[in-house]
Amino acid sequence: MQPLLCNYYTTYRCNAKCGFCDIWEQPSPLVDLGDAERNLDDLQRLGVRIVDFTGGEPLLHPELDVLLDMARARGMRTSVTTNGLLYPKRAASLAGKVDLLHFSIDAADPDKHDASRGVQCFDALMQSVRVALEIGERPDLLFTVTNDNLEELERIYTEISYPNGLILIINPLFQYNDLGSSLDDKVLDHILAFGRRPFTYLNPAFVTFRRAGGNDPEAPVCRAVSTTVVISPFNELVLPCYHFGLDRIPIDGQLFGLWNSDVVAEHKRMEGRHEVCRGCTVNCYFEPSFATSPTTRYFWQSLPSKMNYAWTKFVLQRLDNRNGPREAMLPVRIAETDHRTAPDHSIEAVQQA
Ligand SMILES: C[S@@+](CC[C@H](N)C(=O)[O-])C[C@H]1O[C@@H](n2cnc3c(N)ncnc32)[C@H](O)[C@@H]1O
Ligand code: SF4
Ligand code: SF4
Repeated sequence: MQPLLCNYYTTYRCNAKCGFCDIWEQPSPLVDLGDAERNLDDLQRLGVRIVDFTGGEPLLHPELDVLLDMARARGMRTSVTTNGLLYPKRAASLAGKVDLLHFSIDAADPDKHDASRGVQCFDALMQSVRVALEIGERPDLLFTVTNDNLEELERIYTEISYPNGLILIINPLFQYNDLGSSLDDKVLDHILAFGRRPFTYLNPAFVTFRRAGGNDPEAPVCRAVSTTVVISPFNELVLPCYHFGLDRIPIDGQLFGLWNSDVVAEHKRMEGRHEVCRGCTVNCYFEPSFATSPTTRYFWQSLPSKMNYAWTKFVLQRLDNRNGPREAMLPVRIAETDHRTAPDHSIEAVQQA
């Protein structure tokens, strides 16, 4: 089977410090453009359809626009998720290059969002929404739901996403490296009901999967290796997944050959079968795993939510875009702030810190 997706880590560095994430703690370079060009050639040969330029904070890469151009020139779709700190400054250079743009949001309350992200970033995030709408982008808002921020869901929906015609993605918190926690039953019930509203996306199969105990190494649902190529900022192939990086193999211009090697074949055989895979619910890999497993109930349960997402994204939002740029409707206090006065969140500032 051909991999569908590449999770391309542009850097592990980040200008935020979220409590549920430890990526930002790792020192890391930025992806080298020459390496990326060779890898993207090979990803195209492997049949990869979507490249998710991720991180860390992907906008810390000063040439993210070039990476996006390189992927699109090879017929691949692109996706980027950002905390929004640098988006207002970079929006013009990224415009039209990201097929699926996501802004992460943890709360509608500025102080709660900033507390969750470990830095002041709510105002920059709202500026990002405003700038994106002005230039004709329709970013999805990506809300990571925890046991402690459920009440923020309603406010984000009614105050920010729905009035601006933006999809609110509900992303259940997952556990890895002793981070995160399992979600209470009442949280799962609530998001299941919430995810039926217009302009929301929740894959209900995630909830069923969690209630069934997550991945079972004796009967694994995980297809992390088969579906997803994970590349580190050090130009390594990470196997079987970023979150359980057992092997980090230098790519050295040989991604295609490496992918067809015995080492990767063995990782495919073992995907989801390691002891650490017991109970795993890392959404990043189960979304493509469900999508490529038509013999499971998760595939069929995912389908309506995906069709609904596609309808909203590729029909409703495109029709709306024909009316020209949208003026953002945001809570007044936030709409008056100016991102140019925000602290420096560039890669240089992060390196110094
Ligand atoms: C790893 S971040 C990278 C992109 C960027 N730094 C950001 O935060 O938008 C991608 C997404 O994963 C989410 N995330 C991080 N840790 C998570 C966890 N333990 N469970 C679920 N989602 C998580 C973040 O909130 C973000 O929306
Ligand atoms: S902004 Fe993204 S990469 Fe940075 S710490 Fe938060 S979730 Fe992790
Ligand atoms: S089950 Fe989880 S930890 Fe195991 S390979 Fe899949 S994504 Fe990685």
